[in-house]
Amino acid sequence: MKKTIKLATNGLEMPIVGLGTWRAQAQEVENAVNLALENGYRHIDTAFNYNNEEFIGNVLKKWFDTNRITREELFITSKLPNFGNRPSDVERFLNLSLKKLQLDSLDLYLMHMPFSFHLNETTMSPLINDDGTFSLDTTDYLDTWKVMEEQVRKGVVKSIGVSNFNSEQLQRLYENACIKPDVLQVELHAYLQQKELRDLCKKLNIAVTAYSPLGSPGANKHFSSKYDYELEDFPDILGHPEVKSLAEKYGKSPGQILLRHLVQQDVIVIPKSGNEQRIRDNINLFDFELTPEDMEKLDTLDRGERGRIFHFLFFKGVENHPYYPFNKKD
Ligand SMILES: NC(=O)c1ccc[n+]([C@@H]2O[C@H](COP(=O)([O-])OP(=O)(O)OC[C@H]3O[C@@H](n4cnc5c(N)ncnc54)[C@H](OP(=O)(O)O)[C@@H]3O)[C@@H](O)[C@H]2O)c1
Repeated sequence: MKKTIKLATNGLEMPIVGLGTWRAQAQEVENAVNLALENGYRHIDTAFNYNNEEFIGNVLKKWFDTNRITREELFITSKLPNFGNRPSDVERFLNLSLKKLQLDSLDLYLMHMPFSFHLNETTMSPLINDDGTFSLDTTDYLDTWKVMEEQVRKGVVKSIGVSNFNSEQLQRLYENACIKPDVLQVELHAYLQQKELRDLCKKLNIAVTAYSPLGSPGANKHFSSKYDYELEDFPDILGHPEVKSLAEKYGKSPGQILLRHLVQQDVIVIPKSGNEQRIRDNINLFDFELTPEDMEKLDTLDRGERGRIFHFLFFKGVENHPYYPFNKKD
């Protein structure tokens, strides 16, 4: 099967497996990027918000300086933070990301979220009101998008896209964009399979990237504090009996089964790992194929909206933002 997805606006080949880096800091992310590159990864997903671009940049520089890789071989994604979604701030945040990554251009720049907060200039983070709610900035994402398009024209980014947009928002963006979004990055795993969004993307020729493709198991503590989850309520997709039994049948790990289920449907995956064996496993998906029956078994694990982990409600008051993308009843 093919290991890349061709992007619609520029024909760029985006590797179908990339390394996720959220919550990976300093030594861990440097190690992970090194191991990933050694094991054939050519796609790295980061964001201004992850506060790790400088560490990734250090590793890339070493690889370039020692001629182990060329810039053209790599596909690097970063994201405009939700406190930067306004025309006057796009270039500023893009340039900060480029500087930290020590790169002249990005392969993909995503608007991280459709909603936006005012910027606290001192802390370079969202402005918080006295009552603890986030200060909502209702700038239209179409206006922000126009400046992202400018970055493509200037050659600073090759492709642009969005993350965490719902179908209506994506459709509206598509209809109004001069340069169409090449990629939609959303939460997507066996418990939240996003069929409707994926169908829309297919129709619009937009590639889909699955974030948290394993269900973000390492973030359970992070979520239990932010969302008031009981730890045992956190979804354990890797431990689902069907996933475990398929892993046994194919002689693969549960993680490989979940990732293969997605890439076999042309969904790009960006699993995060800091562990050598798992980094290797997560890209080692191309020497087996799930049968149509086994694909169907995994399809039935879909819980729809109930399977969503990321609601972003820890941004207090975000549900009142006109561009909050998810069902407010959830
Ligand atoms: N656009 C957005 O809003 C958004 C939101 C969330 C995430 N993302 C992106 O998507 C990436 C992936 O999502 P994620 O980090 O939330 O979750 P994930 O990739 O689903 O899961 C990562 C966790 O699973 C463990 N793991 C990795 N491979 C494994 C395997 N084969 N078997 C068992 N466990 C495994 C990792 O632990 P070890 O490190 O110990 O292996 C880590 O704790 C992020 O890193 C980020 O780049 C984007």
